[in-house]
Amino acid sequence: MTKVIDANNIKYAYPTIEGTEPKLALKGVTLAVEQGQFVAILGHNGSGKSTFAKHINVLLRAQEGTLTVVGLDAADEANVWGIRSHAGMVFQNPDNQLVSTVVEEDVAFGPENLGVPHEELRGWVTEALEAVGMQGFEKRAPHMLSGGQKQRIAIAGVLAMHPDIIVFDEPTAMLDPQGRAEVMDTIRYLNREEGKTIVLITHYMEEASEADRVFVMTDGAVTDEGTPREVFSHKDRLEEAGLLPPLATQVYYDLKEKGLDLGICPVTLKELVDELCR
Ligand SMILES: Nc1ncnc2c1ncn2[C@@H]1O[C@H](COP(=O)(O)OP(=O)(O)OP(=O)(O)O)[C@@H](O)[C@H]1O
Ligand SMILES: [Mg+2]
Repeated sequence: MTKVIDANNIKYAYPTIEGTEPKLALKGVTLAVEQGQFVAILGHNGSGKSTFAKHINVLLRAQEGTLTVVGLDAADEANVWGIRSHAGMVFQNPDNQLVSTVVEEDVAFGPENLGVPHEELRGWVTEALEAVGMQGFEKRAPHMLSGGQKQRIAIAGVLAMHPDIIVFDEPTAMLDPQGRAEVMDTIRYLNREEGKTIVLITHYMEEASEADRVFVMTDGAVTDEGTPREVFSHKDRLEEAGLLPPLATQVYYDLKEKGLDLGICPVTLKELVDELCR
């Protein structure tokens, strides 16, 4: 398996006002992601998730340690654009990511700036809109769409650049349940059908339980990692990280306390129901 993100002991402190002691936002993060993997990063507020994410497409650069993205050394200035063309980023607020008043222009913005010839642009835009299930919205105004639709347009804008990796920093945090479901369906599709490597930063345990692998960050470092089942069954470590397991796992622990041991620790409601019915 190829590691498409390979961070080794990276440290980062934001610039401080002169005279104040710099505080490390990343205290030595070691984290690897393989090609085609869907990974989730969990952690309480201020644990360093966004700071780490910004290293992946070189919005920030590690002060210590090493980071390679698709084999390119992020410390090398010459690799910045190469890395950014391979690793796209989607943020929390879709309104901040939309740049145009017409959907198709918005999606075309990135590839156009990459110098994609005009006659090819339409194809790139159509393909990206289809991937997020927003074909037919080409002429619409983004600000008239629902939150979930806006976020899918923002995702299409990233996809139109043909990245291998997409980093999502709390993409559903501002959305209603329907919008969240739409965005999660899109993320799942991009991973399974289009083979994109996904890094999903989230506060929703239910979203993380769909990942192949979960990383937990506490206070600037990775304090646990494994499959969702492994991570969510480390109850004490989760608590130390200031997190609660998904509902299905909480119910499992409550039942266990009352004397009913389901055997396997469920991480989704479906798994919980299946176990209860057995
Ligand atoms: N621009 C900045 N300047 C100075 N300090 C910052 C800046 N951005 C973040 N920090 C600090 O770095 C640490 C890590 O912040 P970061 O935003 O990476 O956390 P996070 O895990 O993404 O949190 P959240 O869940 O709230 O999004 C925190 O102590 C935060 O206060
Ligand atoms: Mg953040």
